[in-house]
Amino acid sequence: MNMIQTPKRWAITSAILFASFRTTFASTSIYSACQAPTPDPLTGCPPNTFWVSQTDCGADFTTIQGAISSLPDNNTNYTILVMPGIYVEQLNVTRSAPLTILGQTSTPNAQESNTVTVYWAAANANGKFSDNAFTSVLTVAPTLEASLTGSGPTGYPVPADTPFGCIDFRVYNIDFRNVATEFSAGPSLAVSVSRANAGFYFSGFYSYQDTVYVGKLGNAYFYRNTIAGQTDFLYGFGTAWIQHSQIQMRSCGGGVVAWKGTNTTFPNKYGVYISDSFLNAANSSIAPSMIGKCYLGRPWNAQHRSVYLNTYMDASIRPQGYEKWSSNPLTDNYNNYTVMAEYNSSGPGFNLSARIAGNLTIEFTAKQARVYRTPLDVFMTPGGAQPDISWIDPAAYTW
Ligand SMILES: *[C@@H]1O[C@H](CO)[C@@H](O)[C@H](O)[C@H]1NC(C)=O
Ligand SMILES: *[C@@H]1O[C@H](CO)[C@@H](O)[C@H](O)[C@H]1NC(C)=O
Ligand SMILES: *[C@@H]1O[C@H](CO)[C@@H](O)[C@H](O)[C@H]1NC(C)=O
Ligand SMILES: *[C@@H]1O[C@H](CO)[C@@H](O)[C@H](O)[C@H]1NC(C)=O
Ligand SMILES: *[C@@H]1O[C@H](CO)[C@@H](O)[C@H](O)[C@H]1NC(C)=O
Ligand SMILES: *[C@@H]1O[C@H](CO)[C@@H](O)[C@H](O)[C@H]1NC(C)=O
Ligand SMILES: *[C@@H]1O[C@H](CO)[C@@H](O)[C@H](O)[C@H]1NC(C)=O
Ligand SMILES: *[C@@H]1O[C@H](CO)[C@@H](O)[C@H](O)[C@H]1NC(C)=O
Ligand SMILES: *[C@@H]1O[C@H](CO)[C@@H](O)[C@H](O)[C@H]1NC(C)=O
Repeated sequence: MNMIQTPKRWAITSAILFASFRTTFASTSIYSACQAPTPDPLTGCPPNTFWVSQTDCGADFTTIQGAISSLPDNNTNYTILVMPGIYVEQLNVTRSAPLTILGQTSTPNAQESNTVTVYWAAANANGKFSDNAFTSVLTVAPTLEASLTGSGPTGYPVPADTPFGCIDFRVYNIDFRNVATEFSAGPSLAVSVSRANAGFYFSGFYSYQDTVYVGKLGNAYFYRNTIAGQTDFLYGFGTAWIQHSQIQMRSCGGGVVAWKGTNTTFPNKYGVYISDSFLNAANSSIAPSMIGKCYLGRPWNAQHRSVYLNTYMDASIRPQGYEKWSSNPLTDNYNNYTVMAEYNSSGPGFNLSARIAGNLTIEFTAKQARVYRTPLDVFMTPGGAQPDISWIDPAAYTW
């Protein structure tokens, strides 16, 4: 059974570390100079940077996957700088050593001005694929098996001896769009992270169903991203923290989130945490037809954990908040392991009396919310040792 309590000592340590991040680091990413357009595109880039362009014959590669595939997995850090353009390709990162992919931009703090988009079109409808994994625009996982969703309450049985994948994968200023359909018609992943650490900064993820997948032993941090979808568009088994981001509902279906937890012998915090963010209808044309129709989430299995922290919710959100999953009998919050919670929500989508009457959404007290205060509290190591979150860009705490 999952344990929800954090030892007190831990909470104190994490508060101290978090405070030091806030004050120690500069307010822009260390990659801004590399990302800025310059006559020699590699000006300001770290050593071991390759560049990708579809039009400049001086570039190292014409496709992003061409650059990724060229990298040796030999404990050397690499960076890939991508020139503006529309790249129609599936990306697959299996290496374990650090890799950073940058979109070129003169405005790195503005996701809406991103110049690089990666497109793919694949939805797993009517058994078209043997697994959702094959639909993803970007996959970060050491092996194919590590990335498989599988089925049933425990999903695909990933072999225990599968190695960990990328210890530090980062993307800055790139949008990923799975354009299989313009409505929910089967899983169509924009990103898939399993058995790997991945940080996404000022990036965008767009599809309609199962847009963001954080699979088993996946750790993913999203900072100032836009994530747009319709049905269960944040899903998985791993741990995701979404900070200062725009969650855009393109219609209503299932829930915004659907997570499968795992019973482990050590305490875990697998789940999705949406912090200081905004849940809005994707645009004003569709907003009126969505009022009161979108659920915050639904439990993909009984160990589901999702927590909204300090988040604004527009009128699209159902007054009752979360919903049950009709085919899943284990959906009440009184079993002490299903966590469908919120703390300090605001906006017209937050109706406290309806939440309480619905008897499904947990309204955290300040004390309960403190257990999930920062990424340090959730990206746990087996055994409960202080987690290593050095793969998260420290500047992302201060921007
Ligand atoms: C996890 O443990 C709970 C409580 O013992 C049990 O009811 C549930 O079926 C288990 N879930 C899985 C996916 O094994
Ligand atoms: C990794 O491979 C690259 C390309 O062959 C080489 O330049 C680099 O020195 C290697 N790094 C290590 C740690 O061996
Ligand atoms: C390589 O990346 C790791 C993890 O991000 C970092 O600790 C290390 O300093 C980097 N090494 C170099 C030579 O940049
Ligand atoms: C990613 O690449 C690995 C290694 O080539 C391959 O085994 C795997 O099938 C690929 N994953 C996907 C989802 O295509
Ligand atoms: C609004 O969003 C919907 C759903 O994504 C889309 O079909 C429609 O084209 C958008 N309308 C405008 C005006 O952007
Ligand atoms: C509640 O959330 C708002 C943002 O919506 C934030 O400004 C405020 O500080 C939060 N209050 C607490 C007690 O965390
Ligand atoms: C809320 O639901 C639980 C089981 O899911 C039930 O035991 C309890 O009586 C319900 N409370 C109210 C006030 O309906
Ligand atoms: C859940 O925890 C509460 C408080 O510790 C306890 O009273 C209740 O019996 C527990 N319920 C289950 C189903 O274990
Ligand atoms: C909140 O929900 C209750 C039903 O529980 C409803 O009567 C009330 O009108 C709602 N309030 C607002 C402001 O929508």
